[in-house]
Amino acid sequence: MDKNRIIVFDTTLRDGEQSPGCSMNTEEKIKVALQLEKLGVDVIEAGFAAASPGDFDAVSRIAEQVKNSSICSLSRAVENDIKQSGLAVQRAAMHRIHTFIATSPIHMKYKLKMSEEEVIKRAVHAVEYAKTFVDDVEFSFEDAGRSEVSFMKEIMDAVISAGASTINLPDTVGYRLPSELGAMIKELSDYANDRAIISVHNHNDLGLATANTLSAVQNGARQIEVTINGLGERAGNSSLEEAVMAIKTRKDAFGELYTNINTPEIYPTSRLVATITGVEPQQNKAIVGKNAFAHESGIHQDGVLKHQETYEIMRPEDVGVFKDSTLILGKHSGRAAFRDKIQHLGFDKVSDEELNAAFERFKVLADKKKEVTDDDVRMLITDESLNQDKTYELVGLQISDCSNGIPMAAVSIKYKDQVMKDANIGDGTMDAIFKTIDRLTGYDGNLKDYKVLSVTEGKDALAKVTTRVSFDETSPEFVGHGLSIDTMLATAKAYLSAVNSYLSQKERLSKKTEHQI
Ligand code: KIV
Ligand code: ZN
Repeated sequence: MDKNRIIVFDTTLRDGEQSPGCSMNTEEKIKVALQLEKLGVDVIEAGFAAASPGDFDAVSRIAEQVKNSSICSLSRAVENDIKQSGLAVQRAAMHRIHTFIATSPIHMKYKLKMSEEEVIKRAVHAVEYAKTFVDDVEFSFEDAGRSEVSFMKEIMDAVISAGASTINLPDTVGYRLPSELGAMIKELSDYANDRAIISVHNHNDLGLATANTLSAVQNGARQIEVTINGLGERAGNSSLEEAVMAIKTRKDAFGELYTNINTPEIYPTSRLVATITGVEPQQNKAIVGKNAFAHESGIHQDGVLKHQETYEIMRPEDVGVFKDSTLILGKHSGRAAFRDKIQHLGFDKVSDEELNAAFERFKVLADKKKEVTDDDVRMLITDESLNQDKTYELVGLQISDCSNGIPMAAVSIKYKDQVMKDANIGDGTMDAIFKTIDRLTGYDGNLKDYKVLSVTEGKDALAKVTTRVSFDETSPEFVGHGLSIDTMLATAKAYLSAVNSYLSQKERLSKKTEHQI
């Protein structure tokens, strides 16, 4: 392998997705995986196949659809996990099993209750068993950041002999400082020499995840495990956009090192993940935050206008941030102008149905707004592609004036060409909407989270509502998305979208059991 190439291993769909409030349904995971492929990620950790039938389904469907990135599934060092991973990734063009066991004294003593010898034995067996499914096996020493280097050398010898080709050294609890982590990586990568690729996976508990990742790269790591927008357990993981752009921007510090990331896809990927999860990066987040390329003070604006590099170390367009184009859409714009616009915005995989549906919605929006901005169009297209499942479709909503003290909602929805109507009172307007939808669909949803965001500019901005709803004890929570100028309309759409997601997952899984796939 080229010694200067840094392999980018993205774990947004596993470590990112397992963090609270970030779960995604299968269709959403597939969309993210296809976008990660377009971004040029080398390895996509698509999930933890053994966690649930839904997770298995998502990993295997991603494995079937992604062609240019390797698909990986995480497994504890136990046979059933490894088997589920092996089966889930088997149809991928390129595939990997990632298995792990904790190696720090504190984890071995209190969590695993295992001796060092037992841990080594389990690790070796896990790698040997994984090799019966795939050639490419990655082994992680969980909590490597607090593990003894001498023990890691011992276990490294054993798992490399068993067939592991990547050794990942996670700073699981985000404890290390960059100088310490760099020294650890140097010692272990010198020790591994050419026998395996050394990988890092840093958590951000002290805000040092990306600094640690970069220090590791400077000290011999050739794989970085990262997530979009830095999502991940607790304070998150090292973010892909920060690590990749640091390597690209600071050639003086990283020399010939490079990644294969197609950097103009960074911003579209970040937007997709934020839209799907409903978790927005903070405004001042490096690279992808709303303010990352905004210059507020007069002195800065003056400087940038005179010479961009006075206050910008990267060009916004290199990460896919483009200023609004001059082609402004309004109510007289036709389908051709609309198609042009979405192509200009980088949506190259929009089906004719998605385009037509988004165009209809654009017309309705253009009637209410004088100018439809690039952001409005971006949101319409993304929303359309996230809400492809239209089992139940909102036709109309009427809510009572709450000033009389009795919140009420009348809802009409379409189901298999039939329009159904109902009305209900509730503790508040939202509650009345949800109760009416529950009665119409027959599903008793339990709202777990509700977020409303103004996603475009101006007083007639589009509101995006994200709901997280659970429908029964055994299945995960389902995310729904709704977009409208009117917040209550967006709320009703988001709730119905969660119902649709639940139904489609239920149907897919029951078909799988019937056919024993
Ligand atoms: O943080 C961690 O240690 C992990 C491993 C399972 C790789 O996520
Ligand atoms: Zn992790």
